[in-house]
Amino acid sequence: MNEPVYCLRDLAKVYDGRRVLHIERLDIYAGEILAVVGPSGAGKSTLLRLLNFLEPPSSGTIRFRGVEVGRGQTAPLPLRRQVTTVFQHPQLLNRSVWANVVYGLRLRGQRNSRHLLTSTLEEVGLTKIAHRRARTLSGGEAQRVALARAMVLRPRVLLLDEPTANLDPYNVGLIEDIIRRLNREQRTTLVLVTHNIFQARRLAQRVAFLLEGRLVEVTDTTAFFHSPRDPRTAAFVRGEMVY
Ligand SMILES: Nc1ncnc2c1ncn2[C@@H]1O[C@H](COP(=O)(O)OP(=O)(O)OP(=O)(O)O)[C@@H](O)[C@H]1O
Ligand SMILES: [Mg+2]
Repeated sequence: MNEPVYCLRDLAKVYDGRRVLHIERLDIYAGEILAVVGPSGAGKSTLLRLLNFLEPPSSGTIRFRGVEVGRGQTAPLPLRRQVTTVFQHPQLLNRSVWANVVYGLRLRGQRNSRHLLTSTLEEVGLTKIAHRRARTLSGGEAQRVALARAMVLRPRVLLLDEPTANLDPYNVGLIEDIIRRLNREQRTTLVLVTHNIFQARRLAQRVAFLLEGRLVEVTDTTAFFHSPRDPRTAAFVRGEMVY
């Protein structure tokens, strides 16, 4: 295994006096695809917000590339910029595909690089519709714009929250190919939140199972599906409700 990019230790997030996430220990390794699965409300999106330093930990620490971020803290800007998220419900500007992808660069104060923009649109298969307005796009196309907007920043770590929710199998396949390529060709570290355990099996090297804010099990994908240690993981994999 490569070195860890993230080391989470006793990490907790509390909202309104309720602890919605408490991870005793989790390392995320450089260049891996880690899938995070678990029922609705388990804390998956909350975990991504902490990994993106959008919200500070309530207690415990996240060590990111050697820098420790604790209670109430965030990571220094140059480190934060190494991480990008595609949110569960990405919002696009009501402008062209091209303008939406440029927007990602502008937010970071980065100069527009035409080459970077064209190659990113090419990677997500949107070159031919670069001038279409975002609101005229299909769900799959819009999701690829959201991905392109993140990819153009060439992050070391890409956090994806349900990147293929509500898409047809063809668009799911397109997006999964993009994810695989990013990981293989650019060695991007990916944390993929998904409700689709088959997607986790197709894409991830390891799977983490969150339940009520706690990490039940994190293990390599084959073991997760074929020989989970925890009976709750086995039940979840069988598609049963777990509490
Ligand atoms: N800003 C907030 N204020 C208060 N409670 C919150 C906040 N954000 C999340 N929560 C609560 O934290 C818990 C975990 O939410 P989270 O969105 O992380 O779940 P999730 O696993 O992503 O669920 P889903 O699969 O439905 O997206 C939920 O009970 C949610 O209501
Ligand atoms: Mg969520």
